[in-house]
Parts: sequence; C-alpha cells; structure tokens
Amino acid sequence: MIVPGSHSQALGAALAAETGQPLAGVRFDRFPDGERMSALDADVPDVDRAVVVAATVSDAAYVELLQLQDAVREAGVDEVVTVLPYMGYGRQERAFGPGEPVSARAMARAVATGADRVMLVDPHEASVTDFFDVPCAVVDAAGRLANPLPADLTEPLFLAPDEGARHLAASVRDAYGRGAVDHFEKTRHSGTDVEITPGDVPVAGRDVVAVDDIVATGSTMSEAITALNNRAAAATYVACVHPLFVRSARTKLERAGVTAVYATDTIERDVTAVSVAPAVADALRR
Ligand code: R5P
Repeated sequence: MIVPGSHSQALGAALAAETGQPLAGVRFDRFPDGERMSALDADVPDVDRAVVVAATVSDAAYVELLQLQDAVREAGVDEVVTVLPYMGYGRQERAFGPGEPVSARAMARAVATGADRVMLVDPHEASVTDFFDVPCAVVDAAGRLANPLPADLTEPLFLAPDEGARHLAASVRDAYGRGAVDHFEKTRHSGTDVEITPGDVPVAGRDVVAVDDIVATGSTMSEAITALNNRAAAATYVACVHPLFVRSARTKLERAGVTAVYATDTIERDVTAVSVAPAVADALRR
C-alpha cells in the first residue's frame, strides 16, 4: 500500500496509480495540547509492504512521517519503504560552524529507525544517503522536467546556476532530446544574497532553461534569469525538482522576467507541472 504524508497526497495518489498498489486512508489530527496524531484509517489494506511517501517540508512533517512509519508497523506490515520526495534539513549535510549539528544526519537517523529502506528523490547532496542506518537509494527524477517544456525551444540551452546542479541540467537535456548544457558560477553571500557570474556561455537569441534542485527564496534563480535576460536570451524558463518557494520567491522570478516556471510534485505547489511518480515507481520495482 501507498501511505501518503499530508504534503504528498497528490504524489501518493499518482504513485498508487503508477504501481497498482492500494492508496491507504490517512488522517492528520491534533490533540488539544497541540500534539499530532497521524494515523491510518481503520480499514488498513492487508498487504506485506507499505510505502510511506512524505515530503518533510517542515518539522511537523517529520513528526507525521515518524508516526505513519510506526502506524504501518503497528498494522503488521513486514516491510516499510520510506520515500522522501523532498528531504527537509538535507542542505544541512555538515556542521558549518563550531557547535552546529549535522541536522541531515540527525533526521536521517530518526527516519531510519522506522524504515527497512529509504529512497530520496534528487537530494541536495547525494552523500546524505550515508546518514541512514538502512539502505538508502537516490531516485533521479530531474528528467521528468522535460515533459512540460515547450516542444519547439530554439537552440535550447540547459543551464545550471552552479556546477553542483549541472548533472540535473544534463538529465533534463537528455530527457528533452536536444540542446546544450552549461553552468554559471554562483557565490552565496547569505541566505538570500546570491551572486551569479555568467561566464562566456552564449545565450543571445536562445531559449534557456535554468535548472536547479531547489528553488527556496528564489534568490539564485532570479539572479540567473536576470543575467540571462540582460544577455538577450529569447525566452527564460525555470525548471526545478523541489519547489519550496518560500517568502517572495515567485514574485522575484516574475520581476526578473521569467517566461514560465516548471516544477515536480516532490513538493506540491502551484508551479508543479509534472509528477515524479513514474521515476519512483521504477525505483520501487528494482
Ligand atoms: C543550493 O545550492 C541549491 O542547489 C539551490 O540553488 C538553493 O537551495 C536555492 O535557494 P534560493 O532559492 O534561496 O536561492
């Protein structure tokens, strides 16, 4: 059965349809003191395996996930597979200063206590898989972002804002079937202050798809889109796997002159244009 977290209900349904597994009923309540109760409905399907799929976009989402993992064990399933479409705290994969925790490791250890194996969709750093005390695999779903792109892009260029995201741009290009891949240089001065250095990439007259794993505050992508438009790109698209879109991210992109924004359903937002369910279903079959 597929057991969706509260932030992954559309993806859970898509995954159930893709795999043919039943979609479990779930409920998300709170007690008067604020504590959460994330539970399966009473009519739990009689199955051996549960796939809990939950984007941990908040602290509360982690609590929900731990409760759902425990609920499926309590219901008697033999195997619990946990899919994190988006792994919250994944960007804190090391201690950046004295006294800081490795938060991604702390979250991974907690999740691993309730799972037999884990899947992460395009984590920010693949190395976080090592933090789980159970087998953990990466699902590369970035190629799904080729689906919603216009079919008639002119001399398409798939551009990552930094070298670290270049493999994602390559995945989208490969799925699209044609075009070049390149990257900008990025310097992050603070949580919201990002500098993008264009380099020599020729963009004038071309349709450019800026590809990244996450759009959070939108600082990175709005700087990239501004740089591209300043250099006379024909059209500028943003394609990201995980549309966190916090604060004024959407407005920043519009003000930068983006043509269109496309994202997956690892986080369910209004820019979600394609599901990662086929990629996750493939990984589950392996
Ligand atoms: C960081 O290296 C990630 O790949 C993204 O570029 C980053 O998370 C985007 O954050 P923001 O939208 O706040 O610039």
